[in-house]
Amino acid sequence: MSLLQLQHLRKDYGGLRAVDDVSFDIPEGKIIGLIGPNGSGKSTLINMIAGTTDATAGKILFDGVDPTHMPSNKNFQQAVDITNMPSNKIFQLGIARGYQDPSLYFKMTVLDNVLLPVKEQIGENPFVAPLKRLWRQAEHDHARRAREVLEQVQLLSHYDKLASDLSGGQMKLLEIARALMGDPKLLLLDEPTAGVAPNLAYDIFKQIARLREDYGITFLIIEHRLEILFDFVDYVYVMHLGNLLAEGTPDEISANETVREVYFGD
Ligand SMILES: Nc1ncnc2c1ncn2[C@@H]1O[C@H](COP(=O)(O)OP(=O)(O)OP(=O)(O)O)[C@@H](O)[C@H]1O
Ligand SMILES: [Mg+2]
Repeated sequence: MSLLQLQHLRKDYGGLRAVDDVSFDIPEGKIIGLIGPNGSGKSTLINMIAGTTDATAGKILFDGVDPTHMPSNKNFQQAVDITNMPSNKIFQLGIARGYQDPSLYFKMTVLDNVLLPVKEQIGENPFVAPLKRLWRQAEHDHARRAREVLEQVQLLSHYDKLASDLSGGQMKLLEIARALMGDPKLLLLDEPTAGVAPNLAYDIFKQIARLREDYGITFLIIEHRLEILFDFVDYVYVMHLGNLLAEGTPDEISANETVREVYFGD
């Protein structure tokens, strides 16, 4: 079953075609790798899915079903066209993301960082704010959920530390914890191990695999460290100069001559 479908997606920055006619599917419950040389359009692609960059052309469909399913099938569900939807709406539908550069609030605590994106902060409504009984329960629930997600990435014991006091790997995990607050079905991660020591990088991927096992979250992960990525992903898409160059299992991609040429310089 396909959770996300990209159809002929394109992004032009003036005369530069950063993403050129890319179509692919992300099946539900899988960990998918997105690789390619620098500047090949990977981040731009993820930005379009997350709604932080508008697509020039093409379509992004979310939460769809296998087209062979008939409408009479109970599981049939209309895919939502999320192309160029505002990013907060996309987050609410169940797509969360991490950034290539950690976008944390370093002067805030670990706990406050995960509480920031909470979906409906009812207490922030000026008419509701003075009436504590209306928002106390919601605040309570958010705090409980925040503790849960910190536990999920094994950061709970650091909850009252400043984000700036975390290690590079812990910062990446905090970003993932924050994304989990939205109860995502799909998590987009842009280089989740960038700047992290190799053994910790491996730990981050172990946590990712655990989140897929325990919560059924689907992942699309951009990563340059292929030796780690390939141990965890089910399937890989390769981009080059804005195009989809190849796709396959990690073994197939490692053996693909064209990929080796453009990516590894063989
Ligand atoms: N906001 C922007 N304005 C203009 N050009 C952009 C913008 N963002 C990206 N580009 C260009 O689009 C192309 C694709 O960039 P993108 O960041 O998507 O690549 P990437 O595959 O993520 O690279 P890296 O591996 O270095 O992160 C590059 O040529 C880049 O310079
Ligand atoms: Mg990038």
